[in-house]
Amino acid sequence: MAIKTVGVLGCGLMGAGIAQVSAAAGYKTIVREVTQGALDKGLGRIEKFLNGGVEKGKMTAEQRDQTLGNLSGTTTFDGLASCDLVIEAIIENVEEKTKAFAALDALVQDHTIYASNTSSLCITELAAKTKRPDRFGGLHFFNPVPIMKLVEVIRALTTSDETHEALLGFGRSIGKEVVTAPDRPGFIVNRLLVPYLLDAIRCYERGLGTREDIDNAMKLGCGYPMGPLTLLDFVGLDTTYYIAEIMFDEFKEPMFAAPTLLKRMVLAGKLGRKSGEGFYKY
Ligand code: 3HC
Repeated sequence: MAIKTVGVLGCGLMGAGIAQVSAAAGYKTIVREVTQGALDKGLGRIEKFLNGGVEKGKMTAEQRDQTLGNLSGTTTFDGLASCDLVIEAIIENVEEKTKAFAALDALVQDHTIYASNTSSLCITELAAKTKRPDRFGGLHFFNPVPIMKLVEVIRALTTSDETHEALLGFGRSIGKEVVTAPDRPGFIVNRLLVPYLLDAIRCYERGLGTREDIDNAMKLGCGYPMGPLTLLDFVGLDTTYYIAEIMFDEFKEPMFAAPTLLKRMVLAGKLGRKSGEGFYKY
């Protein structure tokens, strides 16, 4: 069954990015938010990014208009009934995700595939709680979605070969490189990235260098686009803390334990760019 219409649950930072790349690839894309205000904000974010792309000469005005023409919004689950694939990008909470998929189960077509963009929750658990555990997998995107070239495609224990192939094909069709990752906390990227980021905080805590020196060392010494403390502010300290807790809980290895400073910064509301202050001020 060919995928023609894509639904995206959630139009926050990740959901908006996913909806944008899907619409840009020619899929009719319907994005669902809980309130009209959140929907308008998310769609506005997409329009702003596309306008920026035109200004930077990355796309033509016609391509922008085509993408916007493929995109629509809804505040109801009914609005996603015609979707062949629904990608969930809502809050990282099993109950909330389960509720959303349960609401869809009664509405979507038999062949519809579900995918979750979760970065840390168990795909097999989410799949098992739906009426279509074989038509369920993970599609893990990276921030900023329109620019980062990778999608991790995750197989739950229950994902069928057909579903996995369909998700790999979808990832490629939106212009991303795909890698298959197992359903283990962190998949591939966060399994390697999160211990590195946590270690950078431990190094900073222990006075290995100033935040600027630590960042410059990794940026210029390794050719990374951002130093680790800048990247932590970019990803969000609360998000990193949350992922680390889940990984530590599963693996019980010290390298996944959240450093003292990270926990305190989160408690103090210093979440990085989104709150105006993290390791740096914005
Ligand atoms: N439309 C189209 N293209 C655009 C654009 C737009 N509106 N805005 C920017 N671009 C393009 C630029 O033209 C440029 O393309 P080029 O390389 O071909 O010239 C590219 O995007 C980079 O844009 P900028 O030059 O404006 O920005 P920077 O060079 O400052 O890069 C960055 C910004 C892409 C965020 C870069 O710093 C970066 O890659 N940082 C690391 C991000 C990262 O690691 N993300 C993953 C986080 S982990 C995660 O998400 C997982 C989760 O589970 C935690």
